Amino acid sequence: MPATHIDWTAVDVPAQNGRTVVVTGANSGLGAQLSRVLARAGARVIMASRNVDATRAVAETIGGNTEARRLDLADLSSVRAFADGLDGDVDVLMNNAGVMAVPKGVTADGFERHIGTNHLGPFALTGLLIDRVRDRVVTVSSGLHVLGRVRDDLNWENRRYQRWFAYAQSKLANLLFAYELQRRLEAAGRSTISVAAHPGVSATEGQRRDTSLQGKILAGGRAQSPEMGALPLLYAATAPGVDGGSCIGPDGLMQRNGHPTVVRSNRRSRDAALATQLWERSERLTGIRYALDPR
Ligand SMILES: NC(=O)c1ccc[n+]([C@@H]2O[C@H](COP(=O)([O-])OP(=O)(O)OC[C@H]3O[C@@H](n4cnc5c(N)ncnc54)[C@H](OP(=O)(O)O)[C@@H]3O)[C@@H](O)[C@H]2O)c1
Repeated sequence: MPATHIDWTAVDVPAQNGRTVVVTGANSGLGAQLSRVLARAGARVIMASRNVDATRAVAETIGGNTEARRLDLADLSSVRAFADGLDGDVDVLMNNAGVMAVPKGVTADGFERHIGTNHLGPFALTGLLIDRVRDRVVTVSSGLHVLGRVRDDLNWENRRYQRWFAYAQSKLANLLFAYELQRRLEAAGRSTISVAAHPGVSATEGQRRDTSLQGKILAGGRAQSPEMGALPLLYAATAPGVDGGSCIGPDGLMQRNGHPTVVRSNRRSRDAALATQLWERSERLTGIRYALDPR
C-alpha cells in the first residue's frame, strides 16, 4: 500500500462493473456487508450460504445484481454441487464464511466443525474453482490465529475439546492455506493471487453469540461496526496493487480496529513446511487435488 494512503473506506472500492464475486457466508455479518458494498459498486455478487431463503431476503434488501445460492461448507457434497452449478468464471472468490467457538461437533464428512467448515470446506471449494478465478482468492482469518496450533489430532478426537482453540486452529489453517496457495499459483505462473484478510473485532452475530467471559476476553473488548470490519476484506478483494501472499487487516492498536493496511501475521502462519503438510493432508481429507500445472 502506498505510504500516503490514509483511511481507505468503502467509497474507495473501485467500480466493479462486469466483475463477478462469490461471497461465502453472505447472509449475515461481514458477508452481508461485503455483498452490499460490492453490489453497489456494480459487481455481480453470488451470495453463497447454507440458508438460501435467508440469503435471498438479504439479497432483496441489497438489490443490484445479487443472487443467492446454496452452499454448506460443512458438507463436501454441497461444496461440489455449488461448484458444479456455477456458470462461467468468477473474478474474486471470498472465503468469508465461518463458525466461531461453537460446541464440539462434526461436519457431514466427520471433520471437527471448525476445521471442517472454516478450512477444509473452503480448501475444497477453492480447489474446485481455482481454474475459473480470474483475479484473486481472499481468505478471511482472524487475529486469534496466534492461539492456533495445527495438531496431528486435527479433529480434536484425542484431547479435551476447547472451542476457542479449535477456532484458532482453523484460523491459523486459513493463513497457512492462503500463503501456500499464493506460492503454488506463483510456481504455476498464474496471475491469480491469493490474499489473506481479517476484520479485527467486529460486532456481528458470530462475534456476539459467545457471551462467556473467555469469549469476551479473547474477542478483545470493544468491537467495531460490521461496516468497518468489512473494510480490510473489501480492500483485499478489490484494491489494485495488493500483493499476493499479503495479509490485510485494520491499522489500529493490536489490529483490532481501524482502516485497512497490510498487517503481519505470526511466524507459525508463515511456516512453509507446516503449510505444505496441511495442504497435503487437506487434499487427502477432502479428496480435492489442485491441478495447478503451469499454463
Ligand atoms: N466478527 C469478528 O470479530 C471476526 C473476527 C475475526 C475473524 N472473523 C471472521 O469473519 C468471518 C465472518 O464472520 P462474521 O463475524 O460475519 O460472523 P457471522 O455473522 O456469524 O457470519 C458467519 C457466516 O458464515 C456462515 N456459515 C457458517 N457455517 C457455514 C457453513 N457450514 N456453510 C456456509 N456458510 C456457513 C454463516 O451462515 P449461517 O447464518 O447459516 O450460520 C454466516 O453467514 C468468519 O470467517 C470469522 O471467522 C470475524
